[in-house]
Amino acid sequence: MAAKTVFITGSSAGIGKATAILFQQQGWNVVATMRSPDAGGDLAALDRVLVTKLDVIDEASIAAAVAAAEDKFGGIDVLVNNAGFGVYGLLEATAVESIRKQFETNVVGLLATTKEVVRLMRRDKSGVVINVGSIAGKMAYPLGTMYNGTKFAVEGISEALRFELREIGVRVKLIEPGIIYTNFFAATEFNNDPSLVEYQGLVAKFGAAMEEVSKHGTDVSVAAETIYTAATDGSDHFRYLVGEDAKAWAAQLAGIDNEEYFAHISSVFGL
Ligand SMILES: NC(=O)c1ccc[n+]([C@@H]2O[C@H](COP(=O)([O-])OP(=O)(O)OC[C@H]3O[C@@H](n4cnc5c(N)ncnc54)[C@H](OP(=O)(O)O)[C@@H]3O)[C@@H](O)[C@H]2O)c1
Repeated sequence: MAAKTVFITGSSAGIGKATAILFQQQGWNVVATMRSPDAGGDLAALDRVLVTKLDVIDEASIAAAVAAAEDKFGGIDVLVNNAGFGVYGLLEATAVESIRKQFETNVVGLLATTKEVVRLMRRDKSGVVINVGSIAGKMAYPLGTMYNGTKFAVEGISEALRFELREIGVRVKLIEPGIIYTNFFAATEFNNDPSLVEYQGLVAKFGAAMEEVSKHGTDVSVAAETIYTAATDGSDHFRYLVGEDAKAWAAQLAGIDNEEYFAHISSVFGL
């Protein structure tokens, strides 16, 4: 049987890179896309791996990467919409340009990539679209306004698309990681302005809470394995939590009302 093909965004590092390596080890063809293909030398050296340029905010690069995947492997069986980053901090301290970039990358980029790839999946009457959301798409927390906004959007997008793409034989799945040990937090933009004195107590409490929370993260291999399971389990299962932290938070949220939710998050952040 011919090898299947996975197409991954943001494969230069972290979850995307680990996922590319795992699928390759499992015998798949891998289209490992990234903003700077020079960063993908070790992946490019592997059999059945095509490293190609794709910046999710550059439509032409998406079209070119999908065309290169079609040329090389004929089609795409699984799309992993993984590329993303975080803009955290005070809204008043965040440039509108940063807000745009956050939504352009995590939301518009995901939609633009999916739009291009499902054209091939519709032709082939099959496929799986796997969106890397976050537990931050289920629970909002202080100073997460921009990032939470994008990941809540990914939840709604994934649910709605699930109905639409069933019509063409494509299943949509959603990955919801908790804290995963990657470059994510180092790459995160954090916006503060000490002259906004009213907020500085909150900023300090946020820092302390995040330090505590990040002690209980999960190895990136678990995220890659979960994505592989979602791609291959043949089921209609939709949400896949990653990490004991994400599972515990999801369990705490189940069945509580808004007021209980705000009280719970306030206690976690010492507010
Ligand atoms: N780590 C966590 O705790 C965590 C938890 C929940 C969800 N997630 C989600 O998991 C996904 C992967 O993050 P990660 O943890 O693996 O972080 P990471 O190590 O920082 O990797 C992020 C990847 O996204 C790429 N990327 C950023 N902007 C891009 C753009 N415009 N076009 C194409 N690629 C772009 C980066 O490429 P460059 O190398 O070019 O910057 C990098 O390959 C993200 O969607 C993130 O929101 C992460």
